[in-house]
Amino acid sequence: MKLLISAGTRPEIIKLFPIMKELDRRGIDYVFVWTGQHYDKNLFEIFIKEFNIKKPDFNLMIGSGDHATQTYKIIKRLSPIIKEERPDIVIVQGDTNSCLASALTAVKMKIPIAHVEAGLRSFDMRMPEEINRRVVDHISQALFAPTENAARNLILEGIDSSRIFLTGNTIVDAVKFFENKLDCYTYEIKDLRNYILLTIHREENTNKKRLKFIFETLLEVEDEIVFPIHPRTKRALIKAGLYDKIKRKFIIKEPLGYVEFLCLLKNCNIVVTDSGGVQEEALTLKKPCVTIRENTERVESILMGFNILTGYSKDRILNAIEEAKRIKVNYDKNPYGDGNAAKKIVDILLNKDFDIQHINFLERNFLRGVRLIYEDISVNEFESKNKCKVNAIIRNGKILIPSNSKLFRGDIVIYL
Ligand code: UD1
Ligand code: UDP
Repeated sequence: MKLLISAGTRPEIIKLFPIMKELDRRGIDYVFVWTGQHYDKNLFEIFIKEFNIKKPDFNLMIGSGDHATQTYKIIKRLSPIIKEERPDIVIVQGDTNSCLASALTAVKMKIPIAHVEAGLRSFDMRMPEEINRRVVDHISQALFAPTENAARNLILEGIDSSRIFLTGNTIVDAVKFFENKLDCYTYEIKDLRNYILLTIHREENTNKKRLKFIFETLLEVEDEIVFPIHPRTKRALIKAGLYDKIKRKFIIKEPLGYVEFLCLLKNCNIVVTDSGGVQEEALTLKKPCVTIRENTERVESILMGFNILTGYSKDRILNAIEEAKRIKVNYDKNPYGDGNAAKKIVDILLNKDFDIQHINFLERNFLRGVRLIYEDISVNEFESKNKCKVNAIIRNGKILIPSNSKLFRGDIVIYL
């Protein structure tokens, strides 16, 4: 089994390194392609060293650019590598342009795709990430859903449940990997106390109007704010003439290494962010989170009451910050997983057959119907009677993947 892992941004390498480590542990080699969407040392190389993973076998060096340019450059430069390497499966993660373009290249070359962190939905097609993740899910053969909610999103889009695997999110593995390094820390940040940790980088939050609104609002907060700054945001703040003002009030840091960032997260009072991964890490490290967005695909911590979505109202942002300081995050089970996602993913990759069956899976991949069950019947009987495949069962308000063989009166069946 030849595996090719393709990634190109900070969150991808952070969420893929647990899988790489698991492969290393089992003595399984893989081809590692870095697209070069992120190229600054602090967004890329720093993590290779920190995670002690192998350097990329190939760097496509696509750099920055508009979305279409990034996508076509990756396709152009990745396709000869796939042609040469002939992997059995291409592994991609998340929702970046690197993820989309790598998946498109694979499917066009009839190579099966494994999508790590499948099924997240913000239901906001204005976000480039929402477009990317939807497309990738629908062309992948192995979909590793991090949460029940993500698996449900996929089923409701008519994706065959035999391709969906509930594994948890590898971000929990990543946090656990460094968990015992987060206390006795020796970086310069060790003296910081009672601060808010801030990260802002989303495209929709870095246009001039939004950026100005967000940062003028945050300048009214009295607490100390520590702000490891994404290069996109730094550039935008300089352009908007706000950088010097922010620098006088906030403690600005260059993008940090993973352990240093987690250390800051673990020791902050609350985190204010628009990042996807940071929302999951906040819950994992039991920190209250305020998310400056109109929506989020990370609904779990919102539903648990530990993450407050503010939208773009000044009062809501300022009130949410005060409210979050009073939240005590506590739970028995982390909805993002138990820290064994990478192990589960590698087990599935090595033991299942992901033959592409190029046309078949695409043709079957639409929602055919929903039916109420009036009498107890086996799944097999229902399938042969209706010439269909039971894709999911709604029972007592929960969506179940049909692993057992019986349907009961009152169940609702979603079939393909
Ligand atoms: C990308 C992802 C986003 C993810 C984020 C993680 C897409 C559509 N967006 O956004 O989902 O949350 O990565 O951080 O794929 N830049 C540098 N140095 C670098 C890389 C970028 O200075 O190494 C600057 C450039 O000015 C560039 C800008 O950041 O134009 C945006 O970079 P880009 O990769 O297009 O998007 P991100 O905002 O990083
Ligand atoms: N992160 C980091 N250093 C920093 C800021 C963030 O290592 O200075 C990590 C953070 O722990 C999280 C990931 O970067 O795992 C999130 O990346 P980002 O916010 O860029 O992308 P998103 O998760 O929104 O796609």
